[in-house]
Amino acid sequence: MDLEHIDTPAVVIDLDRVDANLAAAQRYFDRHSLALRPHVKTHKLPGLAHRQLALGAIGITAQKISEAAVMVAAGIGDVLLSYPIVGEAKLEPLARLVRSARALAVALDNDVSLSLVGRAAAAAERTLDVLIEFESGRQRTGILEPAEALALARAVVGHPWLRLRGFMTYPLGPGAGDWVAEARGLLAREGIEAPVFSGGGTPGMWRAHETAGLTEFRPGTYVYHDRATVGAGAASLEDCALCVHVTVISAPERGRAVIDAGSKTFTSDRIDPAVGAGYGHVLEYPAAVITALSEEHGVVDVSRCELPPRVGERLRVVPNHVCPVSNLVDDVIAQRGGRIEAIWPVWARGATR
Ligand SMILES: Cc1ncc(COP(=O)(O)O)c(C=O)c1O
Repeated sequence: MDLEHIDTPAVVIDLDRVDANLAAAQRYFDRHSLALRPHVKTHKLPGLAHRQLALGAIGITAQKISEAAVMVAAGIGDVLLSYPIVGEAKLEPLARLVRSARALAVALDNDVSLSLVGRAAAAAERTLDVLIEFESGRQRTGILEPAEALALARAVVGHPWLRLRGFMTYPLGPGAGDWVAEARGLLAREGIEAPVFSGGGTPGMWRAHETAGLTEFRPGTYVYHDRATVGAGAASLEDCALCVHVTVISAPERGRAVIDAGSKTFTSDRIDPAVGAGYGHVLEYPAAVITALSEEHGVVDVSRCELPPRVGERLRVVPNHVCPVSNLVDDVIAQRGGRIEAIWPVWARGATR
């Protein structure tokens, strides 16, 4: 089937651009002798994870146990879980994952999580690797002081089924290198080694080599890019590999068009006003602004377009933030040179536990 004949809204990826984005990142990390551990939360597709590994990634990162389980079932053996694991209901699923993954690491920043992951590893009778998460600018999860790492490190080292591997942070703030140097120094005094230092985030990806002591990086969005990573200077609009194809369903008055995709497709993620306006960039009409979304409607201000789009016209929209868009569709259409090459089920969509 031709791309112009697929029903809309449809999430379409350009495989030439995906390949170029993956290759450019791998070249960069190889050049700087940094390991690449892509975050699969962006694409949620085992097929693309395998492509990333084939290019040289050392493993993958997943946010949730269920997301990681999809990847492991698809034959991917080396996984970092970068999201805190807390709650008794996670014990069994984590133990299953520990048993099935070839190499699994978890990030944590507190002893409640440590106790749970220790029990899961013991139940699975397999050693589980641990990274201590620290804060480096996001003010989300992560311990604040290097001294706090010591207590967690001692507990990991003292556990029969846990092995300390190092540190993880997101994204990778300016002080992260110093933070890790100090924490490594404190641990070294007790003979504890922490060789891994993992940072992440596509916006800062091309500057990863500037952080002293960093050993691996976890970009996710770089596979597709989006308006936000373009705005951050990490990519150009031409690098954006995922577009939402939509149809104009109404043009009730001059200056207003309505498209067949709303918050159930684009999500309601906004964009920094310094970068752009509205809920996505319309490639065919760069002056158009998607001003409002309801579930299935997108209202587009086309007053600044020389010739506004007509009812029935198809448009391509680059989303503000691409990761949640992948999570909202059953399948993505993979095209190359305008021809559909594959339609891939998004196997890990909805894997939020
Ligand atoms: C812990 C962690 N690592 C890596 C990433 C990847 O970031 P990005 O999609 O900006 O590349 C994320 C994204 O949310 C994250 O939460």
